[in-house]
Amino acid sequence: MKYGVVSLFPEWVEQVGQFGVLQRALERGKISIEGFNPRDHAMDNHRTVDDRPFGGGPGMLMQIDTTQAALAQAKTALPQAPVVYLSPQGRKLDQRLVGELARLPELILLAGRYEGIDERLVAEQVDFEVSLGDYVLSGGELGAMVLIDAVSRLIPGVLGDQASAEQDSFSNLWLDCPHYTRPVDYHGETVPEVLRSGHHGRIEQWRLRQGIERSWDRRPDLFERRTLSQTELSIVNEHLSTLEKASTTRDGKDDEKPDH
Ligand SMILES: C[S@@+](CC[C@H](N)C(=O)[O-])C[C@H]1O[C@@H](n2cnc3c(N)ncnc32)[C@H](O)[C@@H]1O
Repeated sequence: MKYGVVSLFPEWVEQVGQFGVLQRALERGKISIEGFNPRDHAMDNHRTVDDRPFGGGPGMLMQIDTTQAALAQAKTALPQAPVVYLSPQGRKLDQRLVGELARLPELILLAGRYEGIDERLVAEQVDFEVSLGDYVLSGGELGAMVLIDAVSRLIPGVLGDQASAEQDSFSNLWLDCPHYTRPVDYHGETVPEVLRSGHHGRIEQWRLRQGIERSWDRRPDLFERRTLSQTELSIVNEHLSTLEKASTTRDGKDDEKPDH
C-alpha cells in the first residue's frame, strides 16, 4: 500500500511509520508513506496557506491554490489512489471500512486544518470523506495516522502472524476475547483452566463465547442488523439465562437484607 498524505504537517504523519509494526512494514516495503505539503507551493514571502472565508465568521480555510497544487502532486505520484478527506462529516471509520481500504493499492489522505477546505475543492478532488468519530480535531493528521495504522495491519505480511489480525475485535464483528499471560496466578486471580488445557477446539469455543458475551455486555449495538448463526444464538441465550439467574440471586439477597 502506498499512502500519500496532503498536510501542512506531513512529517508528523510520516512518524507513524517510525515505530513497531509499521516501522517493520516500511522497512520490508509493504507500505510507503509520502507527504505533500501545500506550503511547498506557496508563492509569497510569508508562505501563506490559509485564506479568509466568504461570509465572515471566525477562523480561516485552507487556501485553494496551494492545497490543490499539493493534491495534484500527490495524484501524479499515486495515479491509482482515491482521495480521502479526513473530516468529521465523513463515513465513520470502522473495521469494515478499514478492510475495504486495505484492498486498495494506493490511498491519498487529505488532512484539513483551520475551519476546513473550500467546498468546491472537496467536490472536485475528493472521492470520499472519512471521520474518526463525532468530535472535532484540530486537523486531519491524527485521523490519517489512525487510518494508516489500522489499514496497514490488514495488508498481508505486515503482521508477523496474520491470524492475530483475524482474531482482533471487530474482525469477525465481535469484540476480542480476554487474553492472559504469565504468571498463572496474579493477585489470586488465575488464568482460565481451558486456556492451559492445550485443547484447541475447546479454546476456540471459549474464545468465541467470551467475545460474544463481552459484545452483549459492552456493545449491544454490534447485534443490530446481524443474523446470528445457531452457535452464536445459543451462546447469547445461555449468557442471558446466566445473567438472569445472577440477577434473581442478587435480588433475593437484597430481599433478605434488613430495611434501614
Ligand atoms: C477544526 S476541524 C474543522 C471542522 C469543520 N469546521 C466542521 O465542523 O466540520 C479542521 C480539520 O480537522 C479534521 N478533523 C476534525 N475532526 C475530525 C474528525 N472527527 N475526523 C476526521 N478529521 C477530522 C478535518 O480534516 C478538518 O478539516
